[in-house]
Amino acid sequence: LTRRVPAAPPVDDLVLRPLVAADFAEARAVADGWFGRPVGLTMHLLFFDQLGPHGVHAARAGAPAAMAGVLLGLPSAAEPDLAYVHFHMVDPALRGRGVGAALYREFGRRMHAAGRTRVRALANPAFTASVRFHEALGFRGTVRPGLLGPGQDRIVFERPLPLDP
Ligand SMILES: CC(C)(COP(=O)(O)OP(=O)(O)OC[C@H]1O[C@@H](n2cnc3c(N)ncnc32)[C@H](O)[C@@H]1OP(=O)(O)O)[C@@H](O)C(=O)NCCC(=O)NCCS
Repeated sequence: LTRRVPAAPPVDDLVLRPLVAADFAEARAVADGWFGRPVGLTMHLLFFDQLGPHGVHAARAGAPAAMAGVLLGLPSAAEPDLAYVHFHMVDPALRGRGVGAALYREFGRRMHAAGRTRVRALANPAFTASVRFHEALGFRGTVRPGLLGPGQDRIVFERPLPLDP
């Protein structure tokens, strides 16, 4: 499959940290543009002000105030061995340079240290970048027709933790 972005050197100066409530405003400002469609309440404030310590913020060392990417995730309350990624996005100017993988590795590292042995994420089968991203990271997907409602099929991706062998 053809990559949407040209090969470029990995971003090697990423600073990764948990999210705080104040990150919501910038994420809100960029999310629709970065996704190329309205994300609506999928990116809810509660993932920042209540669940932020589970999430990951990425910025380049020289520009710590400029969000390069963000991951919203949490340890599952229903499945004690599971970590769950709800949402992640990367600045289009930095795509194809390992930022998305770095967000997942950081989240997976923390969750594994806290005893989680599996990670799950949903992907819309229509969004090739998200599907290919999860496949590249070694996730296995199962198509679930109508999982999020009529016509809202999703692929349920899972793989073991940690992410790095
Ligand atoms: C999906 C997304 C987060 C990927 O981020 P990224 O920083 O470009 O990804 P990385 O550079 O870390 O790539 C990791 C792997 O995924 C693969 N990949 C990423 N984007 C891809 C694409 N568009 N097509 C094919 N493969 C892709 C890469 O090949 C790479 O594998 P490799 O190491 O074998 O080369 C980014 O495209 C994005 O923000 N998209 C819009 C938001 C979205 O769809 N989020 C997911 C749903 S919540």
